[in-house]
Amino acid sequence: MNKMKLDIGKAFAKASGFISPDAFTTYKQATEELNAALHNKTGRGSDFLGWVDLPAQINEKILSDIEATASAIRSKNIDVYVVIGIGGSYLGAKAVIDALSDSFAHLKGNKPAVLFAGQNIGEDYLAELRDLLKNKEWALSVISKSGTTTEPAIAFRILKQDLEDKYGKKEAVSRICAITDAARGALKTLATEEGYKTYDIPDDVGGRYSVLTPVGLLPIAVAGINIRELVKGAQDMAKATAPEVKFDENIACQYAAARHALYTEGKKIEILVNYQPKLHFMAEWWKQLYGESEGKNGKGIFPASVDFSSDLHSMGQYIQEGERILFETVISVAKPERELLIPEDKANLDKLNFLAGKNIDYVNKMAELGTQIAHVDGDVPNIRIEIERLNEYFVGQLIYFFEKACGISGYLINVNPFDQPGVEAYKKNMFALLEKPGFEAETKMLKSRL
Ligand code: PA5
Repeated sequence: MNKMKLDIGKAFAKASGFISPDAFTTYKQATEELNAALHNKTGRGSDFLGWVDLPAQINEKILSDIEATASAIRSKNIDVYVVIGIGGSYLGAKAVIDALSDSFAHLKGNKPAVLFAGQNIGEDYLAELRDLLKNKEWALSVISKSGTTTEPAIAFRILKQDLEDKYGKKEAVSRICAITDAARGALKTLATEEGYKTYDIPDDVGGRYSVLTPVGLLPIAVAGINIRELVKGAQDMAKATAPEVKFDENIACQYAAARHALYTEGKKIEILVNYQPKLHFMAEWWKQLYGESEGKNGKGIFPASVDFSSDLHSMGQYIQEGERILFETVISVAKPERELLIPEDKANLDKLNFLAGKNIDYVNKMAELGTQIAHVDGDVPNIRIEIERLNEYFVGQLIYFFEKACGISGYLINVNPFDQPGVEAYKKNMFALLEKPGFEAETKMLKSRL
Protein backbone atom coordinates (compact mmCIF):
# COMPACT_ATOMS: atom_id res chain seq x y z
CA MET A 1 0.00 0.00 0.00
CA ASN A 2 1.17 3.46 -0.90
CA LYS A 3 0.37 5.24 2.33
CA MET A 4 0.06 8.94 3.12
CA LYS A 5 2.87 10.16 5.35
CA LEU A 6 2.67 11.87 8.73
CA ASP A 7 5.60 13.94 9.95
CA ILE A 8 5.47 15.27 13.49
CA GLY A 9 9.18 16.12 13.69
CA LYS A 10 8.46 19.88 13.58
CA ALA A 11 6.04 19.60 16.48
CA PHE A 12 9.06 18.73 18.62
CA ALA A 13 11.05 21.91 18.12
CA LYS A 14 12.91 23.38 21.08
CA ALA A 15 11.04 26.69 21.23
CA SER A 16 8.77 27.32 24.21
CA GLY A 17 5.41 25.63 24.23
CA PHE A 18 6.42 22.82 21.87
CA ILE A 19 6.10 19.23 22.91
CA SER A 20 9.02 17.00 23.64
CA PRO A 21 9.28 13.51 22.15
CA ASP A 22 8.62 12.24 25.70
CA ALA A 23 5.35 14.15 26.03
CA PHE A 24 4.28 12.63 22.73
CA THR A 25 5.09 9.04 23.62
CA THR A 26 3.27 9.47 26.95
CA TYR A 27 0.12 8.87 24.92
CA LYS A 28 1.40 5.76 23.17
CA GLN A 29 -0.43 3.28 25.35
CA ALA A 30 -3.54 5.45 25.75
CA THR A 31 -4.01 5.93 22.01
CA GLU A 32 -3.51 2.21 21.33
CA GLU A 33 -6.11 1.36 23.98
CA LEU A 34 -8.55 3.99 22.76
CA ASN A 35 -8.16 2.78 19.19
CA ALA A 36 -9.07 -0.70 20.42
CA ALA A 37 -12.04 0.78 22.31
CA LEU A 38 -13.36 2.20 19.04
CA HIS A 39 -13.25 -1.25 17.48
CA ASN A 40 -14.52 -3.14 20.53
CA LYS A 41 -17.24 -0.56 21.08
CA THR A 42 -16.32 -0.19 24.74
CA GLY A 43 -15.95 3.61 24.75
CA ARG A 44 -18.42 6.48 24.92
CA GLY A 45 -20.97 6.85 22.14
CA SER A 46 -20.60 3.20 21.17
CA ASP A 47 -23.97 3.27 19.36
CA PHE A 48 -22.38 5.48 16.71
CA LEU A 49 -19.34 3.46 15.72
CA GLY A 50 -20.68 2.08 12.45
CA TRP A 51 -18.12 4.20 10.56
CA VAL A 52 -15.19 2.25 12.09
CA ASP A 53 -15.76 -0.89 9.99
CA LEU A 54 -17.70 0.84 7.24
CA PRO A 55 -14.98 0.72 4.53
CA ALA A 56 -14.63 -3.07 4.88
CA GLN A 57 -18.39 -3.46 4.58
CA ILE A 58 -18.73 -1.56 1.33
CA ASN A 59 -19.08 -4.45 -1.07
CA GLU A 60 -19.58 -4.88 -4.79
CA LYS A 61 -23.37 -4.87 -4.43
CA ILE A 62 -23.42 -1.49 -2.70
CA LEU A 63 -20.95 0.06 -5.13
CA SER A 64 -22.72 -1.25 -8.24
CA ASP A 65 -26.07 -0.07 -6.95
CA ILE A 66 -24.81 3.47 -6.32
CA GLU A 67 -23.00 3.52 -9.67
CA ALA A 68 -26.17 2.36 -11.45
CA THR A 69 -28.26 5.09 -9.80
CA ALA A 70 -25.62 7.69 -10.62
CA SER A 71 -25.46 6.61 -14.22
CA ALA A 72 -29.28 6.63 -14.53
CA ILE A 73 -29.24 10.21 -13.25
CA ARG A 74 -26.40 11.18 -15.60
CA SER A 75 -28.18 9.50 -18.53
CA LYS A 76 -30.92 12.11 -18.27
CA ASN A 77 -28.33 14.46 -19.70
CA ILE A 78 -28.68 16.87 -16.81
CA ASP A 79 -26.76 20.13 -16.60
CA VAL A 80 -27.10 20.44 -12.84
CA TYR A 81 -27.44 18.00 -9.98
CA VAL A 82 -28.67 19.71 -6.82
CA VAL A 83 -27.68 18.10 -3.53
CA ILE A 84 -29.84 19.29 -0.64
CA GLY A 85 -28.37 18.80 2.84
CA ILE A 86 -26.45 20.51 5.63
CA GLY A 87 -23.56 19.64 7.98
CA GLY A 88 -22.64 16.00 7.68
CA SER A 89 -25.25 15.61 4.94
CA TYR A 90 -23.39 18.15 2.78
CA LEU A 91 -19.73 18.71 3.61
CA GLY A 92 -18.30 15.27 2.76
CA ALA A 93 -19.67 15.26 -0.78
CA LYS A 94 -18.71 18.90 -1.32
CA ALA A 95 -15.18 18.28 -0.03
CA VAL A 96 -14.52 15.25 -2.23
CA ILE A 97 -16.13 16.69 -5.36
CA ASP A 98 -14.15 19.93 -5.08
CA ALA A 99 -10.89 18.13 -4.32
CA LEU A 100 -11.19 15.89 -7.37
CA SER A 101 -12.81 18.11 -9.99
CA ASP A 102 -11.40 20.59 -12.45
CA SER A 103 -11.34 23.98 -10.71
CA PHE A 104 -13.34 25.49 -13.58
CA ALA A 105 -15.47 22.46 -14.43
CA HIS A 106 -18.71 24.44 -14.52
CA LEU A 107 -17.39 27.11 -16.85
CA LYS A 108 -15.84 24.48 -19.13
CA GLY A 109 -19.30 22.96 -19.50
CA ASN A 110 -18.46 19.66 -17.76
CA LYS A 111 -21.79 18.07 -16.95
CA PRO A 112 -23.41 17.74 -14.54
CA ALA A 113 -22.38 20.57 -12.25
CA VAL A 114 -23.08 19.43 -8.70
CA LEU A 115 -24.54 22.36 -6.77
CA PHE A 116 -25.74 22.46 -3.18
CA ALA A 117 -28.86 23.77 -1.46
CA GLY A 118 -30.26 23.66 2.05
CA GLN A 119 -26.77 24.21 3.53
CA ASN A 120 -27.81 27.75 4.48
CA ILE A 121 -30.98 29.84 4.83
CA GLY A 122 -29.87 32.58 2.45
CA GLU A 123 -32.93 33.80 0.56
CA ASP A 124 -30.80 35.26 -2.23
CA TYR A 125 -28.83 32.03 -2.59
CA LEU A 126 -31.92 29.89 -3.11
CA ALA A 127 -33.66 32.44 -5.32
CA GLU A 128 -30.56 32.72 -7.52
CA LEU A 129 -30.25 28.94 -7.72
CA ARG A 130 -33.89 28.73 -8.86
CA ASP A 131 -33.21 31.33 -11.55
CA LEU A 132 -30.33 29.24 -12.82
CA LEU A 133 -32.33 26.00 -12.81
CA LYS A 134 -35.17 27.49 -14.87
CA ASN A 135 -33.22 27.05 -18.08
CA LYS A 136 -31.31 23.92 -17.14
CA GLU A 137 -31.94 20.20 -17.18
CA TRP A 138 -31.66 19.07 -13.60
CA ALA A 139 -32.32 16.49 -10.91
CA LEU A 140 -31.78 16.40 -7.16
CA SER A 141 -31.02 14.39 -4.10
CA VAL A 142 -32.28 15.34 -0.67
CA ILE A 143 -30.16 14.13 2.22
CA SER A 144 -31.07 14.28 5.89
CA LYS A 145 -30.36 11.62 8.47
CA SER A 146 -33.01 12.88 10.88
CA GLY A 147 -35.31 13.87 8.04
CA THR A 148 -36.42 16.86 10.08
CA THR A 149 -33.66 19.47 9.65
CA THR A 150 -35.15 22.87 8.84
CA GLU A 151 -32.66 24.22 6.27
CA PRO A 152 -32.79 21.28 3.82
CA ALA A 153 -36.53 20.81 4.42
CA ILE A 154 -37.24 24.39 3.27
CA ALA A 155 -34.99 24.04 0.21
CA PHE A 156 -36.58 20.71 -0.70
CA ARG A 157 -40.11 22.05 -0.33
CA ILE A 158 -39.32 24.74 -2.91
CA LEU A 159 -37.13 22.76 -5.33
CA LYS A 160 -39.45 19.72 -5.33
CA GLN A 161 -42.27 21.99 -6.48
CA ASP A 162 -40.05 23.52 -9.17
CA LEU A 163 -39.07 20.09 -10.43
CA GLU A 164 -42.72 18.98 -10.58
CA ASP A 165 -43.74 22.20 -12.35
CA LYS A 166 -41.01 21.74 -14.94
CA TYR A 167 -41.23 18.01 -15.64
CA GLY A 168 -44.62 16.88 -14.31
CA LYS A 169 -45.12 14.74 -11.24
CA LYS A 170 -44.09 11.35 -12.68
CA GLU A 171 -40.85 12.49 -14.27
CA ALA A 172 -40.03 14.60 -11.20
CA VAL A 173 -40.26 11.49 -9.02
CA SER A 174 -37.69 9.76 -11.24
CA ARG A 175 -35.38 12.77 -10.76
CA ILE A 176 -35.45 12.74 -6.96
CA CYS A 177 -33.40 10.54 -4.70
CA ALA A 178 -33.89 10.66 -0.91
CA ILE A 179 -31.12 9.60 1.47
CA THR A 180 -32.36 9.36 5.03
CA ASP A 181 -33.03 7.18 8.05
CA ALA A 182 -34.33 3.66 7.28
CA ALA A 183 -37.51 4.12 9.29
CA ARG A 184 -37.91 7.49 10.97
CA GLY A 185 -38.44 11.12 10.02
CA ALA A 186 -40.63 13.25 7.80
CA LEU A 187 -38.39 12.72 4.77
CA LYS A 188 -38.74 8.94 5.01
CA THR A 189 -42.52 9.25 5.16
CA LEU A 190 -42.59 11.60 2.19
CA ALA A 191 -40.16 9.47 0.15
CA THR A 192 -42.28 6.36 0.73
CA GLU A 193 -45.51 8.19 -0.16
CA GLU A 194 -44.06 9.70 -3.33
CA GLY A 195 -42.12 6.60 -4.40
CA TYR A 196 -38.65 8.18 -4.58
CA LYS A 197 -35.55 6.08 -5.00
CA THR A 198 -34.14 6.00 -1.45
CA TYR A 199 -30.95 5.06 0.32
CA ASP A 200 -30.78 4.42 4.05
CA ILE A 201 -28.23 6.05 6.33
CA PRO A 202 -27.12 3.42 8.84
CA ASP A 203 -28.40 4.08 12.38
CA ASP A 204 -24.91 3.76 13.83
CA VAL A 205 -23.20 6.28 11.55
CA GLY A 206 -23.50 9.95 12.60
CA GLY A 207 -23.75 12.75 10.03
CA ARG A 208 -20.12 13.91 10.12
CA TYR A 209 -18.86 10.32 9.73
CA SER A 210 -21.22 9.50 6.84
CA VAL A 211 -19.29 10.49 3.71
CA LEU A 212 -18.59 6.84 2.83
CA THR A 213 -22.30 5.96 2.97
CA PRO A 214 -24.68 6.92 0.10
CA VAL A 215 -24.77 10.40 1.73
CA GLY A 216 -21.40 11.10 0.13
CA LEU A 217 -21.00 8.30 -2.38
CA LEU A 218 -24.09 9.04 -4.50
CA PRO A 219 -23.39 12.74 -5.18
CA ILE A 220 -19.70 11.94 -5.65
CA ALA A 221 -20.55 9.23 -8.21
CA VAL A 222 -23.00 11.57 -10.00
CA ALA A 223 -20.11 14.03 -10.30
CA GLY A 224 -18.27 11.36 -12.28
CA ILE A 225 -15.71 10.53 -9.60
CA ASN A 226 -14.46 6.97 -9.16
CA ILE A 227 -16.00 5.87 -5.85
CA ARG A 228 -14.26 2.48 -6.00
CA GLU A 229 -10.84 4.10 -5.70
CA LEU A 230 -12.09 6.42 -2.95
CA VAL A 231 -13.38 3.44 -0.98
CA LYS A 232 -10.17 1.50 -1.68
CA GLY A 233 -8.15 4.35 -0.15
CA ALA A 234 -10.36 4.30 2.95
CA GLN A 235 -10.14 0.51 3.18
CA ASP A 236 -6.34 0.60 3.02
CA MET A 237 -6.20 3.32 5.67
CA ALA A 238 -8.57 1.29 7.88
CA LYS A 239 -6.04 -1.57 7.70
CA ALA A 240 -3.10 0.77 8.33
CA THR A 241 -4.74 2.19 11.47
CA ALA A 242 -6.28 -1.02 12.84
CA PRO A 243 -5.77 -1.80 16.55
CA GLU A 244 -3.22 -4.50 15.67
CA VAL A 245 -0.99 -1.81 14.16
CA LYS A 246 1.15 -0.57 17.01
CA PHE A 247 1.77 3.09 17.80
CA ASP A 248 5.13 3.35 16.01
CA GLU A 249 3.45 2.46 12.72
CA ASN A 250 -0.05 3.76 13.40
CA ILE A 251 -0.36 7.28 12.02
CA ALA A 252 -3.89 7.83 13.42
CA CYS A 253 -2.62 7.12 16.96
CA GLN A 254 0.44 9.33 16.34
CA TYR A 255 -1.61 12.27 15.04
CA ALA A 256 -4.05 12.00 17.96
CA ALA A 257 -1.14 11.82 20.43
CA ALA A 258 0.71 14.78 18.90
CA ARG A 259 -2.31 17.10 18.84
CA HIS A 260 -3.31 16.08 22.36
CA ALA A 261 0.21 16.71 23.66
CA LEU A 262 0.16 20.15 22.00
CA TYR A 263 -3.28 20.88 23.46
CA THR A 264 -2.10 20.10 26.96
CA GLU A 265 0.81 22.53 26.36
CA GLY A 266 -1.68 25.34 25.67
CA LYS A 267 -1.97 25.06 21.89
CA LYS A 268 -5.73 25.45 21.76
CA ILE A 269 -6.18 26.11 18.06
CA GLU A 270 -5.28 23.76 15.23
CA ILE A 271 -5.09 25.28 11.77
CA LEU A 272 -5.49 22.87 8.88
CA VAL A 273 -3.37 24.27 6.07
CA ASN A 274 -3.49 23.45 2.40
CA TYR A 275 -1.43 24.62 -0.55
CA GLN A 276 -3.98 23.44 -3.13
CA PRO A 277 -7.18 25.52 -3.40
CA LYS A 278 -9.12 22.36 -4.27
CA LEU A 279 -8.67 21.26 -0.67
CA HIS A 280 -10.59 24.23 0.77
CA PHE A 281 -13.69 22.18 1.47
CA MET A 282 -11.72 19.21 2.81
CA ALA A 283 -10.84 21.63 5.60
CA GLU A 284 -14.50 22.60 6.03
CA TRP A 285 -15.38 18.90 6.34
CA TRP A 286 -12.47 18.41 8.78
CA LYS A 287 -13.61 21.39 10.88
CA GLN A 288 -17.06 19.91 11.30
CA LEU A 289 -15.60 16.49 12.12
CA TYR A 290 -13.26 17.76 14.82
CA GLY A 291 -15.30 20.73 16.05
CA GLU A 292 -18.51 18.76 16.60
CA SER A 293 -16.69 15.74 17.96
CA GLU A 294 -14.34 17.43 20.45
CA GLY A 295 -15.90 20.76 21.35
CA LYS A 296 -17.95 19.96 24.43
CA ASN A 297 -17.84 20.09 28.23
CA GLY A 298 -15.68 23.22 27.99
CA LYS A 299 -12.94 21.26 26.20
CA GLY A 300 -11.51 20.65 22.77
CA ILE A 301 -9.06 22.08 20.23
CA PHE A 302 -10.68 24.79 18.09
CA PRO A 303 -10.34 23.68 14.45
CA ALA A 304 -9.52 26.47 11.99
CA SER A 305 -8.25 26.44 8.43
CA VAL A 306 -6.37 28.49 5.86
CA ASP A 307 -5.63 28.23 2.13
CA PHE A 308 -1.98 29.00 1.45
CA SER A 309 -0.35 30.80 -0.15
CA SER A 310 -3.52 33.00 -0.54
CA ASP A 311 -4.02 33.38 3.21
CA LEU A 312 -0.32 34.04 3.86
CA HIS A 313 -1.27 37.47 2.54
CA SER A 314 -3.98 37.84 5.18
CA MET A 315 -3.82 35.41 8.10
CA GLY A 316 -0.08 34.90 7.76
CA GLN A 317 0.67 37.86 10.01
CA TYR A 318 -1.41 36.52 12.90
CA ILE A 319 -0.02 33.03 12.57
CA GLN A 320 3.54 34.37 12.60
CA GLU A 321 3.19 36.84 15.48
CA GLY A 322 -0.22 36.70 17.17
CA GLU A 323 -1.20 34.78 20.32
CA ARG A 324 0.98 31.67 20.66
CA ILE A 325 -1.89 29.25 21.06
CA LEU A 326 -1.74 27.82 17.56
CA PHE A 327 -0.36 24.79 15.83
CA GLU A 328 -0.60 23.89 12.16
CA THR A 329 -1.39 20.66 10.37
CA VAL A 330 -0.37 20.96 6.73
CA ILE A 331 -1.75 18.77 3.96
CA SER A 332 0.88 18.70 1.25
CA VAL A 333 0.35 17.11 -2.16
CA ALA A 334 3.65 15.76 -3.49
CA LYS A 335 2.86 15.88 -7.19
CA PRO A 336 0.31 17.99 -9.06
CA GLU A 337 -1.84 16.38 -11.76
CA ARG A 338 -0.91 18.95 -14.37
CA GLU A 339 2.41 20.44 -15.46
CA LEU A 340 3.01 24.14 -16.07
CA LEU A 341 6.44 25.72 -16.42
CA ILE A 342 7.33 29.36 -15.83
CA PRO A 343 8.36 30.90 -19.16
CA GLU A 344 11.46 32.94 -20.00
CA ASP A 345 10.68 36.61 -20.67
CA LYS A 346 13.04 38.69 -22.75
CA ALA A 347 12.38 41.98 -20.96
CA ASN A 348 12.46 40.33 -17.51
CA LEU A 349 10.91 43.43 -15.96
CA ASP A 350 9.45 41.33 -13.13
CA LYS A 351 12.97 39.86 -12.55
CA LEU A 352 11.59 36.34 -12.55
CA ASN A 353 13.82 34.83 -15.21
CA PHE A 354 15.74 33.02 -12.46
CA LEU A 355 12.63 30.82 -12.24
CA ALA A 356 12.29 30.22 -15.98
CA GLY A 357 11.86 26.54 -16.79
CA LYS A 358 10.76 25.69 -13.25
CA ASN A 359 7.38 24.19 -12.41
CA ILE A 360 4.81 26.40 -10.65
CA ASP A 361 4.64 23.63 -8.05
CA TYR A 362 8.34 24.08 -7.32
CA VAL A 363 7.56 27.65 -6.21
CA ASN A 364 4.60 26.34 -4.18
CA LYS A 365 6.83 23.80 -2.44
CA MET A 366 9.41 26.45 -1.57
CA ALA A 367 6.59 28.63 -0.20
CA GLU A 368 5.55 25.67 1.93
CA LEU A 369 9.05 24.98 3.18
CA GLY A 370 9.81 28.62 3.86
CA THR A 371 6.52 29.05 5.72
CA GLN A 372 7.09 25.95 7.79
CA ILE A 373 10.47 27.19 8.96
CA ALA A 374 9.17 30.74 9.60
CA HIS A 375 6.17 29.51 11.59
CA VAL A 376 8.21 27.02 13.61
CA ASP A 377 10.66 29.85 14.36
CA GLY A 378 7.63 31.88 15.46
CA ASP A 379 6.59 29.15 17.94
CA VAL A 380 3.91 27.52 15.84
CA PRO A 381 4.42 23.74 15.95
CA ASN A 382 3.95 22.02 12.63
CA ILE A 383 2.47 18.63 11.80
CA ARG A 384 2.78 17.63 8.16
CA ILE A 385 0.69 15.17 6.17
CA GLU A 386 1.87 14.28 2.70
CA ILE A 387 -0.21 12.58 0.06
CA GLU A 388 1.47 11.53 -3.15
CA ARG A 389 -1.29 12.81 -5.43
CA LEU A 390 -4.63 14.53 -5.14
CA ASN A 391 -6.69 11.61 -6.44
CA GLU A 392 -9.56 9.39 -5.28
CA TYR A 393 -7.31 6.87 -3.57
CA PHE A 394 -5.46 9.37 -1.39
CA VAL A 395 -8.58 11.39 -0.58
CA GLY A 396 -10.14 8.11 0.62
CA GLN A 397 -7.10 7.59 2.86
CA LEU A 398 -7.35 11.12 4.25
CA ILE A 399 -11.03 10.67 5.11
CA TYR A 400 -10.58 7.52 7.13
CA PHE A 401 -7.34 8.75 8.72
CA PHE A 402 -9.01 11.91 10.02
CA GLU A 403 -12.10 10.00 11.21
CA LYS A 404 -10.05 7.45 13.12
CA ALA A 405 -7.74 10.04 14.69
CA CYS A 406 -10.79 12.12 15.63
CA GLY A 407 -12.41 9.24 17.52
CA ILE A 408 -9.18 8.63 19.44
CA SER A 409 -8.71 12.37 20.09
CA GLY A 410 -12.21 12.73 21.52
CA TYR A 411 -11.63 9.82 23.86
CA LEU A 412 -8.29 11.35 24.94
CA ILE A 413 -10.11 14.41 26.30
CA ASN A 414 -12.80 12.17 27.72
CA VAL A 415 -15.77 13.44 25.73
CA ASN A 416 -18.27 11.52 23.64
CA PRO A 417 -16.99 12.26 20.10
CA PHE A 418 -20.19 11.01 18.50
CA ASP A 419 -22.91 13.27 19.86
CA GLN A 420 -23.62 16.98 19.30
CA PRO A 421 -25.94 18.14 22.07
CA GLY A 422 -24.76 21.73 21.63
CA VAL A 423 -26.31 22.19 18.19
CA GLU A 424 -29.82 21.96 19.66
CA ALA A 425 -29.59 25.29 21.52
CA TYR A 426 -29.84 27.51 18.44
CA LYS A 427 -32.60 25.35 16.97
CA LYS A 428 -34.73 25.72 20.08
CA ASN A 429 -34.36 29.50 20.06
CA MET A 430 -34.96 29.72 16.31
CA PHE A 431 -38.19 27.72 16.56
CA ALA A 432 -39.31 29.80 19.54
CA LEU A 433 -38.64 33.04 17.64
CA LEU A 434 -40.42 31.66 14.58
CA GLU A 435 -43.38 30.91 16.89
CA LYS A 436 -43.48 27.23 16.02
CA PRO A 437 -46.49 25.54 17.65
CA GLY A 438 -45.38 23.83 20.86
CA PHE A 439 -42.76 26.49 21.67
CA GLU A 440 -45.16 29.07 23.19
CA ALA A 441 -43.43 29.30 26.59
CA GLU A 442 -39.96 29.67 25.04
CA THR A 443 -41.30 32.26 22.59
CA LYS A 444 -42.64 34.38 25.44
CA MET A 445 -39.45 34.06 27.45
CA LEU A 446 -37.13 34.86 24.52
CA LYS A 447 -39.22 37.81 23.33
CA SER A 448 -39.02 39.31 26.80
CA ARG A 449 -35.22 39.31 26.41
CA LEU A 450 -35.14 41.07 23.04
O1 PA5 B 1 -22.87 15.67 12.23
C1 PA5 B 1 -24.06 15.86 12.42
O2 PA5 B 1 -24.76 15.00 12.96
C2 PA5 B 1 -24.77 17.13 11.97
O3 PA5 B 1 -23.92 18.07 11.46
C3 PA5 B 1 -25.79 16.79 10.90
O4 PA5 B 1 -25.12 16.17 9.85
C4 PA5 B 1 -26.54 17.99 10.41
O5 PA5 B 1 -27.13 18.67 11.48
C5 PA5 B 1 -27.63 17.59 9.42
O6 PA5 B 1 -28.50 16.68 10.02
P1 PA5 B 1 -29.47 15.79 9.18
O7 PA5 B 1 -28.68 14.91 8.29
O8 PA5 B 1 -30.24 15.01 10.20
O9 PA5 B 1 -30.37 16.72 8.39
